[in-house]
Amino acid sequence: MALLFYSNEDDPVAWGDELRKRLPGLDFRVWPETGDPAEIDSALVWLPPPGMLAALPNLRAIFSLGAGIDGFLRDPSLPDRPLCRMIDPALTTSMTEFVLTTALWYHRRLDLFAAEQRAGQWNQVLARPASETRVGVMGLGVLGTAAAEGLRRHGFTVRGWSRQDRPIEGVATYSGSEGLGAFLGETDILVCLLPLTPETENILDAKLFAKLPFGARLLQVGRGRHLVDEDLLAALDSGQLAHASLDVFRREPLPHEHPFWKHPKVRMTPHIASYSLPSSGADIVAENLRRLADGRPLLHVVDRRKGY
Ligand code: GLV
Repeated sequence: MALLFYSNEDDPVAWGDELRKRLPGLDFRVWPETGDPAEIDSALVWLPPPGMLAALPNLRAIFSLGAGIDGFLRDPSLPDRPLCRMIDPALTTSMTEFVLTTALWYHRRLDLFAAEQRAGQWNQVLARPASETRVGVMGLGVLGTAAAEGLRRHGFTVRGWSRQDRPIEGVATYSGSEGLGAFLGETDILVCLLPLTPETENILDAKLFAKLPFGARLLQVGRGRHLVDEDLLAALDSGQLAHASLDVFRREPLPHEHPFWKHPKVRMTPHIASYSLPSSGADIVAENLRRLADGRPLLHVVDRRKGY
């Protein structure tokens, strides 16, 4: 039986090499060189075209190359087989690094100094200790927990919010709609690392922004559909939000006519906050392939009812 690989963003040669190092006899096929579809029993994929997986009659498991699997769940023809998330230490580390970089950028007021430079102003505002900056992380899964811990290690005052309570040492955690107001009310920098589900779609809206302290900042590294774009623009214009750093968008690439491109209070990056690496991600895929062969339970299987 064979593993089928499909992605427009990941390197099939590197993934094939790393997987064969761990599983020398692996029959690794790269789409569209699928061969006989009946020989494919697992798929390692990212954003597969709708219907692609349904055309594999003997598929037993689906492995995502990315952490967020909302794109898979939008395909109504997605086969009812275990779908496993990518939990890769390199992906987790790169997300923590990106969150920390951005939190430090805001903490040291570099958004402000960029604006002052544009205005030709020399205005010294001295830094305060990191403990005086309150960072709130929404979503305490693998990535959110690691980011919260990294921020805490740096000395920030860190809060976390998730659907269900997830205690983290040294981090004040809140949960559910009843905990959201208290969480937001003391958050200077809000980091969105939620999974995209029907409950979290459009969660970053005017109502939520109004609960943040005036002049808060946003780091959006979840999914574009968490954010109501017009509400963010209104919050930036009123000053309720001082600045936003956006890595994910409703449409990617973001169309050039979108106001985010030129907005002076928006910093954009092209969905690069984190990425999985074949050199470390192959460990988890190989382990799951061994488990599949032996009939043992797979790791990191998505709960489709919860959507993550
Ligand atoms: C990227 O967005 C991922 O989900 O890994």
